[in-house]
Amino acid sequence: MTFSKAVALAMGCAALAAGTVALAASAGDVISARQANFKEMNKAMKASFGELKQAAPSSDVFKANANALASAAAKVASGFPNGTGPESGAKTQALPAIWEKPDEFRADADKLVKAAQTYQQAAASGNLDATKAALMQVGGACKGCHDSFRAKDN
Ligand code: HEC
Repeated sequence: MTFSKAVALAMGCAALAAGTVALAASAGDVISARQANFKEMNKAMKASFGELKQAAPSSDVFKANANALASAAAKVASGFPNGTGPESGAKTQALPAIWEKPDEFRADADKLVKAAQTYQQAAASGNLDATKAALMQVGGACKGCHDSFRAKDN
């Protein structure tokens, strides 16, 4: 075997090993990570609505929370790989419908991404009415998906 072939082979093995580690990440870890991501979004929503109630709301606060929401929203769709539903035995409020109707779930996730972008634009514009409207839209996107794909508190 030539040296370069041996190196290529060794690199292939390393790649394979990395893949195995990713596969071995337990369903519980994936579920915890997506739940933590949702908690981040919840925090950003609470902070945003809290700021709306201030006498003189700060556009910097809206901007920061809109950015946090947008980056978390982008991670939602990929947080539900096969095998991370209730059948995994881990504690989750994810309903089987997520994997039965993947297109609808993806559409709901996309709605959130778009709404978060609208919120970012509104926050950047400094227009309070637009910010308020965008926040309502984000809230609607959260609720829309929860109604179809998240189990009620259990
Ligand atoms: C595309 C669907 C979808 C969208 C959009 C969505 N959620 Fe969720 N959310 C879920 C699902 C499914 C779960 C259950 C996850 C689990 O337990 O594995 C969940 C769980 C949560 C949780 C509980 C996390 C925990 O600690 O267990 C919170 C809080 C939450 N979402 C807030 C939000 C907020 C706020 C938004 C909007 C900014 C939002 N979600 C948008 C589907 C969605």
